[in-house]
Amino acid sequence: MEKVRIGIVGTGYIGNVHGNIYARDPRAKITALYDIIPERAAATAKRIGGRVCSSREHLLDSCDAVLVCAPNRTHIEIATAAIDAGKHVFCEKPFALGIEDAALLLERANKSEKLFQVGHSRRFAPVYTKLRSLLMEDAPHSAHIKMNRGELLNPAWTGDVNVTGGFLYETTIHFLDMLRFQFGEISELIAYGSQHEYPEIDEFSVIFKFKNGFHCTFASSADASWLFPFERMEVFCHHRTIVTEEMVRILDCRGIGADFVTHSFHNVSDDIQRGFELEDSAFLDAILNGTEPMVTAFDGFKAVELVESIYESIRTGQPVRFD
Ligand SMILES: NC(=O)c1ccc[n+]([C@@H]2O[C@H](COP(=O)([O-])OP(=O)(O)OC[C@H]3O[C@@H](n4cnc5c(N)ncnc54)[C@H](O)[C@@H]3O)[C@@H](O)[C@H]2O)c1
Repeated sequence: MEKVRIGIVGTGYIGNVHGNIYARDPRAKITALYDIIPERAAATAKRIGGRVCSSREHLLDSCDAVLVCAPNRTHIEIATAAIDAGKHVFCEKPFALGIEDAALLLERANKSEKLFQVGHSRRFAPVYTKLRSLLMEDAPHSAHIKMNRGELLNPAWTGDVNVTGGFLYETTIHFLDMLRFQFGEISELIAYGSQHEYPEIDEFSVIFKFKNGFHCTFASSADASWLFPFERMEVFCHHRTIVTEEMVRILDCRGIGADFVTHSFHNVSDDIQRGFELEDSAFLDAILNGTEPMVTAFDGFKAVELVESIYESIRTGQPVRFD
């Protein structure tokens, strides 16, 4: 079997996470690496192989699939160039910054004959796939959800709104995608925000209403702390509460007592716990089997639409409704 030749643009933290996983997968071969800081690509190449390329164009010459792993603002340009070169694309979240760029990239991805997958990795984390299967057997009524960070300092660009597009694009977007994955399509939201620690809105409260009647409250703070669990969903069903704590465990309390069972994912590797391993495997599966990716360009677009709608609701003080 021909191996899928992987090229990585951006060999920082996440580029190396994916690179390590593909280097272990017998169906793939790392062939090309490009970073604006060449020493980073060289250090990665030393560990997992691949040619260090002097330009992105150079990289596109020697791979079948491109992983877009540079900071947020670069995604649209790198992903578009890869589509134009006829490559399969894995684009880290966020899909794009701003609804106009997201619509442009969606159009390009839809016209491409090759695959486009977006890096909403939490969809592949066992905690969230387990939650989804529990919610298939017991319809959720409402939920109380949070996704916090301790700081916007590390890496330094996470605090630069010109690079991230805003805190919601950097962190919270993971859970905005997760809302659709777990509970379906959103019909309406109203949001409040305030600015404290950083030169952008860094504190958010949102209420979401879904087309199927489900509703939830959602809090997201950029300057909370790293108190565990900094991401949590409390989902309420018929005499049942299901709680996720980080990507580590689920507490499931059924009936009108207080007993609960725990589904624990402590004992799996970080790459599995955080969804990266299954996400990368799913990308290869889709390429090799010619099937739809499990997180599509449309999913990426919808997450951007939610980010922009929250900022809009904060600006106008009005709810945003979706058709
Ligand atoms: N799915 C997830 O859970 C997850 C986790 C972390 C990061 N991310 C996303 O991945 C992206 C990268 O984040 P990171 O934490 O790896 O950042 P990082 O700073 O560790 O790495 C980014 C790398 O990209 C390089 N770079 C910058 N501009 C470039 C360009 N134009 N072309 C090529 N290389 C360029 C930098 O030199 C750096 O080595 C971000 O969009 C981030 O949101 C996703």
